[in-house]
Amino acid sequence: MQGYANFNMLNYMTNFYSVHDVPDIDDLLNTAERMKHNPYEFGQIGKNKLLVLLFFNASLRTKLSTQKAAMNLGMQVVSMDMSASWAWEFEDGVTMRFDTAEHVKDAAAVISRYADVVAIRSFPKLKNKEADYSDQVIQEFMKYCSKPVINLESAIRHPLQSLADLMTIRESISIPEPKIVLSWAPHPKALPQAVSNSFLEWMYAAGYSVTVTHPHGYDLDAQFMEGHSIDYDQNRALKDADVVYVKNWSSVQSYGKILMEDPAWMVNKEKLDLTNNAILLHCLPVRRNVVLADDAIDSHHSVIYDLAQNRMHTAQAVLFNVLSKIV
Ligand code: CP
Repeated sequence: MQGYANFNMLNYMTNFYSVHDVPDIDDLLNTAERMKHNPYEFGQIGKNKLLVLLFFNASLRTKLSTQKAAMNLGMQVVSMDMSASWAWEFEDGVTMRFDTAEHVKDAAAVISRYADVVAIRSFPKLKNKEADYSDQVIQEFMKYCSKPVINLESAIRHPLQSLADLMTIRESISIPEPKIVLSWAPHPKALPQAVSNSFLEWMYAAGYSVTVTHPHGYDLDAQFMEGHSIDYDQNRALKDADVVYVKNWSSVQSYGKILMEDPAWMVNKEKLDLTNNAILLHCLPVRRNVVLADDAIDSHHSVIYDLAQNRMHTAQAVLFNVLSKIV
């Protein structure tokens, strides 16, 4: 641990796939807070270490915040657009005569020789729930990668987003038992459930109960609902809320389908007036006046840019943690 021994982080992670990999959430949040106040304090820990980012899907925040976080720690970064690379095969023992040109076990083994930390983003296809919920791309990659792997948003989880969500809630309000509402909102495209799944998983792990409000047919997978409740009446759910997280997701039951786009579910200032002067969060990107009205996003309730900024500090905390194990 050399010069980092005076930094009292309790435990180190092998991978950062979900909240279940985190030995101590408060410890990680304290690290993020420290990174926020002094981003360059540990600017040598990543010296001569390479972070490889693999993006199978588009990104603005995750790509920039993770790169900046790595640079603050002295790492070098290579970001790959995987849509421009060889198509990977994931099945064992398959005869690769068709579209796939490289097996994940070969790709992961080779990347492990180059990289010190690998991070990967791969969205669901939203065609087959069983396939998506096996989270095959990142799970198979982790199986064959000998270096720490960070989840940049997989088919069903977005833990870096959730850690920033939690940091933003903790620093924005000081109510011991806040009323936290996760509200579905309309969207013209079928979107993954990853942000909402992870948000619920992390809130439960951090000791918070969430009221989830959505139209019938949009119930999230039961494994993420532990400790939380559903209210199908959005206005009733929003009443007296301290935290409002707005997010669209496609149906789990009618897997990957858009069942309705009723604009009445869009969150606007009038709906926020029902709350206890709640803070408003959204992970971004957001479709203005579809998911959230301008008068909500641009109101005093909104902490969406603080949340986006915290993506950088929380990513730095995660990288610091995994680097601390390997330096
Ligand atoms: N919130 C989030 O993950 O943003 P990007 O998709 O732009 O990375």
